[in-house]
Amino acid sequence: MSVLTDKLADRESCSICPALRKTLSVPLRIFLSPSAKLSLTGQKLFHGISKIMQQKLYLCTVFLCTLYIYYILTMIDKINALLQEVEAMTAANAEELEALRIKYLSKKGAINELMADFRSVPAELKKEVGMKLNELKTKAQEKIATLKEAFESQDTGMDELDLTRTAYPIELGTRHPLTLVKNEIIDIFARMGFNIADGPEVEDDLHVYTKLNFAADHPARDMQDTFFVEVNPEDVTKNIILRSHTSSVQVRTMEHTQPPIRVICPGRVYRNEAISYRAHCFFHQVEGLYIDKGVSFTDLKQVLLLFAQEMFGSDTKIRLRPSYFPFTEPSAEMDISCNICGGKGCPFCKGTGWVEILGCGMVDPNVLEACGIDSKIYSGYAFGMGIERITNLKYQVKDLRMFSENDTRFLREFESAY
Ligand code: PHE
Repeated sequence: MSVLTDKLADRESCSICPALRKTLSVPLRIFLSPSAKLSLTGQKLFHGISKIMQQKLYLCTVFLCTLYIYYILTMIDKINALLQEVEAMTAANAEELEALRIKYLSKKGAINELMADFRSVPAELKKEVGMKLNELKTKAQEKIATLKEAFESQDTGMDELDLTRTAYPIELGTRHPLTLVKNEIIDIFARMGFNIADGPEVEDDLHVYTKLNFAADHPARDMQDTFFVEVNPEDVTKNIILRSHTSSVQVRTMEHTQPPIRVICPGRVYRNEAISYRAHCFFHQVEGLYIDKGVSFTDLKQVLLLFAQEMFGSDTKIRLRPSYFPFTEPSAEMDISCNICGGKGCPFCKGTGWVEILGCGMVDPNVLEACGIDSKIYSGYAFGMGIERITNLKYQVKDLRMFSENDTRFLREFESAY
């Protein structure tokens, strides 16, 4: 016990220690004088058992509490140690900086690990430990942003650019892998009678969220958080944003066309995501919409099965899992049988035999009505897929960032793809 009290005394300067001492003082007093501090029922129970059992119980509780106290103290130690590490952090180049970001701020990074442990911190200490953890996270984010800025403002070597160099011969370029896959998707749906529809990347809230049945304060907006160009606090529907999906093009099509409508909407979309090997702040989609009289879920399933078999081979199987999107009801997520192991299970499909490729569902009547289509007469389905995801499955590109780095060694690998 004295080691513990010493350890507590050592923390005189630590801001969270007064509260820690307060929390621990109750169990500590009980351990030091057990029978005196126990409740009436506790006392009866305590006296009802043999002296040896009392001692054993007492020792056992002391042991468990010691472990617990050490656990909390170690957590505080870890936070303080990380704070010092973050303050001293330096990086010689962008790769080193990325490694630091992954070490501290990624999903499996040191700070997130502590955040997971935070759940078991007792309620009395949550506020102080939480504040300290937040301080650590903010410091790490700030430090990484400062280091990044320093790299970006460094001399870019523009002075050494030799403008007298001849531009010839101009080498023949290759099609970008995302363009190749986009064209293949378009080609498959064109053969099924779909037209292409296009729309703006800088959109208003009305077309990206509101007309698609996202309530102004619905958390589904967070799932598709994006970049704001203009914010209108009085009326969110007037916010100007970068579109987070090409469903906005579907809305625009429904606004000016009466059914039958059969379109696909390819294009670039934006999301407020931290950039990593599997997520980016922009990516590409192909979404589809079919509205007519008597369209049912069976039509959707058949079209998607055909698409999967054309894209990934005639043996491909599909499965639909229930999901949620504000603009479709019912909604589903579609998996295809893993095209690498043929559905047997491999590291790529994490042993499941299935890989997810798109979201889909029957267009919610509220969306039809918001876009001027009579939902009593017409019904329809919609689906949406990420082109990066499909390309990844087809060519096993492990890191999403490679698509936008302009490394010609990577791009030339697709020279003979089609
Ligand atoms: N718009 C959805 C997304 O970007 C995809 C989707 C489209 C889902 C159509 C269902 C129906 O995540």
